[in-house]
Amino acid sequence: MTTVSLSVPQAGELPEIGAVLDSWQSDSGPLHLHTGDLGWYSLRGAQATAQALRVWRFGEHIAAIGLLDGEDLLRLSIDPDLSDDDTLAQQIESDVIAASTAVFGPGAAVLEARGAIRLCDRLQARGWDADEPWTTMSRDLSLPVEDPGIRVEIAESDDAEVWTAIHWSAFRGVPYTADDRQRFVERWNEMMSGPFYSQAQSLLGYDDSGLPVAATTVWSAGPDRPGLIEPLAVDRDQQGHGYGKAIAFAAARSLQRLGSSSAAVATPSANTAAVAAYTSAGYVPGAEVRDLRRDG
Ligand SMILES: CC(C)(COP(=O)(O)OP(=O)(O)OC[C@H]1O[C@@H](n2cnc3c(N)ncnc32)[C@H](O)[C@@H]1OP(=O)(O)O)[C@@H](O)C(=O)NCCC(=O)NCCS
Repeated sequence: MTTVSLSVPQAGELPEIGAVLDSWQSDSGPLHLHTGDLGWYSLRGAQATAQALRVWRFGEHIAAIGLLDGEDLLRLSIDPDLSDDDTLAQQIESDVIAASTAVFGPGAAVLEARGAIRLCDRLQARGWDADEPWTTMSRDLSLPVEDPGIRVEIAESDDAEVWTAIHWSAFRGVPYTADDRQRFVERWNEMMSGPFYSQAQSLLGYDDSGLPVAATTVWSAGPDRPGLIEPLAVDRDQQGHGYGKAIAFAAARSLQRLGSSSAAVATPSANTAAVAAYTSAGYVPGAEVRDLRRDG
């Protein structure tokens, strides 16, 4: 019988891992870990991204890919053909619960594994509980997408300060100091030159006076597969004026040009502004999904 092995890849393996992850994205499947998630994580550099990955193989075949998105959160995609495979589920379960720190250290842990049916059954039977609800949203790209109604440009390397400032304002809302700026700009450029960015596009949206107000990055998984929006942001001082809806249209159009079949995004259901903005831009909410949590 072929055994299942767990390894941490080298940075040189990232393109192969990305290609496998791409092949697991489909409109009929769950919105699970996407190559765009690895792309966004690659702000930290290719080496750190490789070190955060956990790859399970059946012999040579990549069967599951997990990203340790922080010490206590593993975000996992499983080969859709193996979502019911008990041998694989059993091995991942034992690696996830082991005290060996191959995946988690002792204490609280969260697993996002939206397509891993057998694994989730096993962990629930073991007492892992449902975590906070997330809403996955998707916009079909087979039909034309509305014009955003604002000027939208592709962000290049020299737009790093502007793009990161909008992101910082939206997600942090605290002053963007010179040190913060330097660090974030360096990381953003690292991501732009990283192993996943060839399938991505970053956008900036401007108001009528030419002020940059909105930013997003979209990640294709190749033609005829769902592309991912990660992240999307409107400057805190500019929210509530329709720019979120506008940049969500622009993100969909950008993915359409890249050949994606749909534009997908996941957000905590508690982020009512995000759910409202995406809904307003024609994204359709799917069933709420929950990660699994082990308390410490
Ligand atoms: C989510 C976000 C992008 C929305 O941007 P925005 O410019 O304020 O949104 P818009 O003005 O375009 O509003 C779009 C729709 O959402 C609704 N909406 C916006 N904020 C809302 C809120 N807090 N509660 C309820 N509805 C809200 C608007 O009423 C509007 O509805 P309508 O088109 O039916 O009239 C912005 O709040 C943001 O950057 N948040 C922080 C980052 C984030 O959470 N990003 C999304 C997850 S990746």
